[in-house]
Amino acid sequence: MTSILFLTITFMGILTASAAPSQSYADEDPTPVATVTTCGGYVNTSSALIEYQPGASIRADQQCVWIVKVPLTFLRFRLVSSGLGENDGLFINDFLSYAPTTQKKFRIVGENYTVSSDQAVITLSVGHAPTRGFSLEFFSSGMVTARGPYSGFASLNMNSGNFSYPSNGGQYRDGENAVFVVNPIVPAQRTLRFTRMGLEYANNCVYDAVSVYNWFNNEYIQLGRYCGTTLPPTFTLEAGVALVVFRSDTSNVGVGFAFEWL
Ligand SMILES: *[C@@H]1O[C@H](CO)[C@@H](O)[C@H](O)[C@H]1NC(C)=O
Ligand SMILES: *[C@@H]1O[C@H](CO)[C@@H](O)[C@H](O)[C@H]1NC(C)=O
Ligand SMILES: *[C@@H]1O[C@H](CO)[C@@H](O)[C@H](O)[C@H]1NC(C)=O
Repeated sequence: MTSILFLTITFMGILTASAAPSQSYADEDPTPVATVTTCGGYVNTSSALIEYQPGASIRADQQCVWIVKVPLTFLRFRLVSSGLGENDGLFINDFLSYAPTTQKKFRIVGENYTVSSDQAVITLSVGHAPTRGFSLEFFSSGMVTARGPYSGFASLNMNSGNFSYPSNGGQYRDGENAVFVVNPIVPAQRTLRFTRMGLEYANNCVYDAVSVYNWFNNEYIQLGRYCGTTLPPTFTLEAGVALVVFRSDTSNVGVGFAFEWL
């Protein structure tokens, strides 16, 4: 009796496990559903063609940062065309844990690059001479991701400014994941200075935290992770580009943070 029952349960378990994934696995879109032509931004679609100045001139030292968030678990990139030179770079960082990690430099037209992630950072970094643009497409496939949309996003393209989160003067919420890109349109070294900090405090900022990543020597360097009410140090952004990533856990909130860049 006991062994027959055991076999039945195991058999049903296998049936359930093999049936579930195939029901919700989604294939790639046949062609990109959106076209993006801006220098950076938030691309939140299942597929897209990013065409930045293909065949046209891009100024020296230009940087552009695109944040890609797709609904499925795999993300395939393909370089469609490129006029970029030796000293320019088009980089893709996995952003799986809301941190720019594994980086790939794209150079070969036609090349595919697939990440097991529903989010990525694309960074264009032009060298000290003008260059020509590129086009890059991406497609998502797989299972629907457990992660929802970002709770906040901003692409800060002004040459200087103030940014506050939340912007309404209230408190942030539990369970937030927000991404803010400092990417002034005129390339130059910038300063990033926090002017307000009101986050739940914990040792090593393991609960609520704001993390700052600086684009330097063609990679993202984490400058620090901050919480509590002490203002972080003033940062120098050599290329003028930074990612400010905010997350909160499931309890205790605060008035958030503000910074200026100039
Ligand atoms: C890139 O991936 C697509 C879709 O899987 C495939 O059709 C194409 O042949 C791949 N290209 C290369 C160069 O591997
Ligand atoms: C994309 O944005 C829309 C509207 O802001 C939102 O409803 C949707 O959930 C987002 N999707 C992803 C994958 O972030
Ligand atoms: C940020 O706001 C403060 C207070 O209004 C102002 O003095 C400062 O000039 C602003 N900074 C920038 C970079 O705009």
